[in-house]
Amino acid sequence: MTRKIRKVVFPVGGMGTRFLPATKAMPKEMLPVVDKPLIQYAVEEAREAGLEHLVFVTGRGKQAIEDHFDHSGELERLLAQKGKDDILISATSMMAEKPGQIAYTRQQEPKGLGHAVWCARNMVGNEPFAVVLADDLIKGPTGCLKQMVDAYEKVGGNLIAAMDVPREHTSRYGILSPGATRDNLVEVRGLVEKPKVEDAPSTQAVIGRYILQPEIFSYLANQETGAGGEIQLTDAMARMIGEVPFHGVLFDGHRYDCGDKFGFLQANIAYALDRPDMQDDVQNYLNDLARQG
Ligand code: G1P
Repeated sequence: MTRKIRKVVFPVGGMGTRFLPATKAMPKEMLPVVDKPLIQYAVEEAREAGLEHLVFVTGRGKQAIEDHFDHSGELERLLAQKGKDDILISATSMMAEKPGQIAYTRQQEPKGLGHAVWCARNMVGNEPFAVVLADDLIKGPTGCLKQMVDAYEKVGGNLIAAMDVPREHTSRYGILSPGATRDNLVEVRGLVEKPKVEDAPSTQAVIGRYILQPEIFSYLANQETGAGGEIQLTDAMARMIGEVPFHGVLFDGHRYDCGDKFGFLQANIAYALDRPDMQDDVQNYLNDLARQG
């Protein structure tokens, strides 16, 4: 029997330097894909997977995220007065069902993803939990995290979302040494963060969804730095290989790297083409652009 996953950690302390100047005074997680901020997609995916407690690891200048998941009395009154119920519902649908289901803590210094997750240790406590990186937007028939929770109920242990990437991109990711593959699960035999292309053990990359056992915190507590001089989650996970079952979930869905300008643009186009209220206009515009070549 595996323990139910109830908590999810969103590391949102990053500076978003790749999107400057847009992210100078605004968190990168608030960048919209069509009309919804990246962080809201991440929260919706967690809710779809049945996760109830949301923990945000924030940093300076990230207050907009807290405000986004709170009531805005003035806005709600205005929309209600104008009878714009549909917009009102979509603007408030992400509120926690009960106060206290969302918690915020700050990572005071940007010391890496491993450090950000470690900052959530007291809020997570001694139970398995999920981590979602909002930059990795995944579009598919079923949310990636739901697919991972389903897999977790079968195999337990640690799980990461995994995807094949071009060999020349391996230095951007955590890369797996894969073992046997069964259905959508690949056994993880080794993990290395951002290897040189020539040293990458495979082309299977870690994508920003994790289910982790709480023992990860004791490995993160050592605070050893790795690639880029940062405390890496990948390094702590690698140390747990052999101690708990460890699998990559070859998820069904398309992943957009919204930490990258081109990936972000691709996501906006793909999501807009999926929206009944705008797909025709967008498609016509793309056709016009292609004709003008
Ligand atoms: C992080 C992780 C890396 C993972 C990637 C997925 O890197 O450290 O292992 O492959 O997310 O997006 P970052 O993109 O934050 O440098």
